Amino acid sequence: MRTSNGMVLWLLLLFSAASSGLLFAFYYSAKHLTNIPARETRSNTSVSYSIKTELPEPLTRKHEPCNHSLVLATQQHYLFKDKFNFTVPVLLYGKLFTQELWERLNQQSAPYGWQGISYQDIVSTLSLLNTSISAQLFDHSTTQHTGCIRCAVVGNGGILNGSRQGAQIDSHDFVFRLNGAVIKGYEKDVGTKTSFYGFTVNTMKNSLKAYKHLGFTSVPKHHDLHYIFIPSNIRDYLMLKSAILGVPVPEGHDKGDKPQTYFGPDASASKFKLLHPEFISYLKERFLKSELIYKKYGYLYMPSTGALILLTALHTCDQVSAYGFMTSNYQQFSDHYYEQKKRPVVFYVNHDLRLESNLWKNLHEAGIMHLYQR
Ligand SMILES: *[C@@H]1O[C@H](CO)[C@@H](O)[C@H](O)[C@H]1NC(C)=O
Ligand SMILES: *[C@@H]1O[C@H](CO)[C@@H](O)[C@H](O)[C@H]1NC(C)=O
Ligand SMILES: *[C@@H]1O[C@H](CO)[C@@H](O)[C@H](O)[C@H]1NC(C)=O
Ligand SMILES: *[C@@H]1O[C@H](CO)[C@@H](O)[C@H](O)[C@H]1NC(C)=O
Ligand SMILES: *[C@@H]1O[C@H](CO)[C@@H](O)[C@H](O)[C@H]1NC(C)=O
Repeated sequence: MRTSNGMVLWLLLLFSAASSGLLFAFYYSAKHLTNIPARETRSNTSVSYSIKTELPEPLTRKHEPCNHSLVLATQQHYLFKDKFNFTVPVLLYGKLFTQELWERLNQQSAPYGWQGISYQDIVSTLSLLNTSISAQLFDHSTTQHTGCIRCAVVGNGGILNGSRQGAQIDSHDFVFRLNGAVIKGYEKDVGTKTSFYGFTVNTMKNSLKAYKHLGFTSVPKHHDLHYIFIPSNIRDYLMLKSAILGVPVPEGHDKGDKPQTYFGPDASASKFKLLHPEFISYLKERFLKSELIYKKYGYLYMPSTGALILLTALHTCDQVSAYGFMTSNYQQFSDHYYEQKKRPVVFYVNHDLRLESNLWKNLHEAGIMHLYQR
């Protein structure tokens, strides 16, 4: 069973590689953890952050300070103060679309740009995300949180099996989950609350296929749950547009898919958020510049869904705790918390989980976030 399930996933990923050119699954065996390279020191005034930053638009922005805001922790860290830039727009929405942005992103391949995607597909999608609601992750008008925004980001790592962290996770103001986020049967370990679900159409559909037999039968749905689309290629723009319009996907790889089968019937524009391709580029350049990009399949490299969602939380919440993310003792745990029998963590050539794991460790040690470890 184990092997054949693994094989199914393998084939699925290979199939998606053939069709999307992104998720090419190859085992990658790096021997060492990669350290974050030191950067040249810049003046610390250039990274100063103030709550009243004069931004032209109501961007996804940090709320009032807390006792231990992660922003302060980043500013006090010799390395991270030059990496974090809290003014880079996290989300893309209609008003940010300009001719200059089109020309810039048209030069870059997905997920960092729009190469090969038509102007019409981009504009018609972004025109549906053209209110201030699409500009921010947290709807401040409806949340009672006037102080510190505390977020939990829940990855799917085996470390959560038997962790009994559910109540702790649910006690956060917002809970982020991603991909094959199985909840039923694991409530005591992973909680039940989901405020945001992050994915690419490719990873969402692969998760529904590969983990169905392990309990991932639908993506989380709830009236105050929001979806974070990671624009990994044209499929994400088409699915997003179709979801808001409430119509089947008209063309392409997902042609005929009914978005409401994934996201439920109540699918207004306010339900969906779209990561800005330039935010993804910034994250890759500053935090996740993997040496894999110099290797044979380097063009396939992108940060994992978990990394993108955790870094999104780190750029929007005041405090962040990460659960189910890879730790240095990952070999003690199964790949996912919901496997019935221990399975080793799978390393794919398009992600650099060791680099990511090292980043989580460094952020934890810097006091910028809390990483759940055992
Ligand atoms: C940042 O720069 C100011 C002066 O511009 C200096 O007083 C302060 O100590 C610096 N802080 C750090 C963390 O380097
Ligand atoms: C912040 O610090 C004050 C004083 O140290 C304390 O009373 C308060 O409970 C703290 N608030 C939070 C959210 O930790
Ligand atoms: C931070 O990002 C903003 C928006 O992209 C940019 O204008 C600014 O130059 C960046 N600052 C630093 C220090 O990188
Ligand atoms: C967003 O709305 C503004 C008017 O408020 C309009 O000028 C702009 O073209 C819209 N953007 C898109 C991408 O439709
Ligand atoms: C999960 O934990 C239980 C009990 O702690 C253990 O028996 C089981 O093997 C674990 N599952 C995996 C996949 O490691």
